[in-house]
Amino acid sequence: MRHLIDPMDLSVEDIDRLLDRADDISNYPQKYQEVCKYKKLATLFFEPSTRTRLSFEAAMLELGGSVLGFSSADSSSAAKGESIADTARTVACYADIIAMRHPKEGAPYVASQFVDIPIINAGDGGHNHPTQTLTDLLTIRREKGRLDNFTIGFCGDLKFGRTVHSLIKALSRYENINYVMISPEELQIPEYLKKDVFERKGISFREVERMEEVMPELDIIYMTRVQRERFFNEADYVRLKDSYILDLDKLKNAKEDLSILHPLPRVNEISVKVDSDPRACYFRQALNGKHVRMALIMDLLGVSADEY
Ligand code: NCD
Repeated sequence: MRHLIDPMDLSVEDIDRLLDRADDISNYPQKYQEVCKYKKLATLFFEPSTRTRLSFEAAMLELGGSVLGFSSADSSSAAKGESIADTARTVACYADIIAMRHPKEGAPYVASQFVDIPIINAGDGGHNHPTQTLTDLLTIRREKGRLDNFTIGFCGDLKFGRTVHSLIKALSRYENINYVMISPEELQIPEYLKKDVFERKGISFREVERMEEVMPELDIIYMTRVQRERFFNEADYVRLKDSYILDLDKLKNAKEDLSILHPLPRVNEISVKVDSDPRACYFRQALNGKHVRMALIMDLLGVSADEY
């Protein structure tokens, strides 16, 4: 693995290695505090972000490295019309590894064609978000103790939500997972996922419109925000934005060991009253994102804790 662009760039062995490393990092952080000394991470964010960018930066700082970059397209030469290729080539002169978020699908892949340093896709349009997927996998493994044999419900904007697309692809390699897709008809998962992932691998899935009807079966519910910025018109967004709101009432019929995940940011799809329920995992999930990004940066830079 030289770059991480698509979740399928990660083999099951890669995932095991990264999640094991993330666990070791959270147990023995002092072992890792200098492993990336003198290395620089550039965060090139052409789209808003809180967790992804800051967890990447915190990850590199906790590994003893440094960070540079920009957090909006307006503050980079993209505003002057510079191409992705030229931006990537330039930044490769200043940094050892790049994390890039971009509203256009495929932009981090294009960048990876022009540079020798590792490129990490930190979210490309409605397409992929492989480091959120690693975060989600670590969270599922930490909460459930396994990555197979469970029923997972994906709820909300399954059409535009890149975190959902990436996680489904990654999970498709694990055994005996039941998938329940909970969304309004207009926000169902894209056809390419149905064909290229579920049909091709002979995996069955259900599509339902009401979360109440499936709640008792779920081991995990993956909530998502309706992705306003990817809608073509505001009226459709307004009509669909409050389709699903998870509150304490809806949780009454849920399993006692349900795990509630959300990549965040939340708008109002989870009532704040749910936050104090032990089944709410989303802030633990945000912390997991830092540990797994530390593991990923080490892997892509080819550094190990044993040398130090
Ligand atoms: C997600 C994203 O950017 O796709 N956020 C994140 O990275 N944690 C989800 C979202 O924006 O709704």
